[in-house]
Amino acid sequence: MISLQLDNQDLAKTYDAISDSQFENGRRLIEALAVAPGNVVLDIGCGTGRLAFHVADQVGPTGRVIGLDPLPERIALAREKYDHPRISFQTGLAEDLSFLADESVDIVYLSAVFHWVPDKERALAEIRRVLRPGGRIGLTTNAKEFVHATTLRLVTAKVLGRPPYRDNVDVDHFAPTHFGVTTTELVELFQKADLTVAQLQVSRTLRRYRSGSEIVAFAESSTFGNYLNHVPEPLRQSARRELAAEFAQLGTPDGIPFQLYSLLAWAEKEGQA
Ligand SMILES: C[S@@+](CC[C@H](N)C(=O)[O-])C[C@H]1O[C@@H](n2cnc3c(N)ncnc32)[C@H](O)[C@@H]1O
Repeated sequence: MISLQLDNQDLAKTYDAISDSQFENGRRLIEALAVAPGNVVLDIGCGTGRLAFHVADQVGPTGRVIGLDPLPERIALAREKYDHPRISFQTGLAEDLSFLADESVDIVYLSAVFHWVPDKERALAEIRRVLRPGGRIGLTTNAKEFVHATTLRLVTAKVLGRPPYRDNVDVDHFAPTHFGVTTTELVELFQKADLTVAQLQVSRTLRRYRSGSEIVAFAESSTFGNYLNHVPEPLRQSARRELAAEFAQLGTPDGIPFQLYSLLAWAEKEGQA
């Protein structure tokens, strides 16, 4: 249902250029995790590497940051842009951390990634395995219980719910709806993985975009091509246009308001550090 084969260089570059709001959310997550000099940090779903680069300065000369992402185009861009002695980037999935030894990492984070991970139990079991006792895992993700109140979902459902899309598209085929977690589900997943929740916070964010097409570009690049992949190819270009126009209708002198609800959480692997 979610494809990792749709990404390309343009989507990767677009995401890198217009992901400031994700980056700000990521910075808040890093603050909550209190990364310290000397830490070994694993950035799962690092994308084009912006946040990993920010963290590299915090781990100091004795620490290191490993960025992991399944999309080769994003890893290639990360390597090109963020050449840093304390960061390494590699391709791979959250569900398979076999390249890392048991208890070898201090902090793992997933910034705007968890809703994409199909096998969350397996990913958390792997994360627990690689974390040192006292180590922390943090994540930001869409809060699934509020997905239907987000601007992206409301406008997308409105446009794809009318002809000619209505008969050809399942508007619920939307990653955060399918694979996201509610706060309750997240706590249950952490508990099952034997990770102790320390902080759990849902917040409403209001971004402002300059144009409807910028919103569509963000949606397509942040979903690595999945946003409109369920729309039959002959209808996709018109869907893009209509979506951009529908977002633009929400415009105000301050830009187009874009509401979302995100979940920030971190948990600890109990034990002596
Ligand atoms: C919205 S981007 C977030 C990128 C970056 N973390 C940030 O904060 O800007 C989501 C990322 O999750 C990655 N991803 C998707 N499925 C994954 C999986 N199973 N394991 C690890 N990463 C995954 C994608 O390749 C993509 O780069």
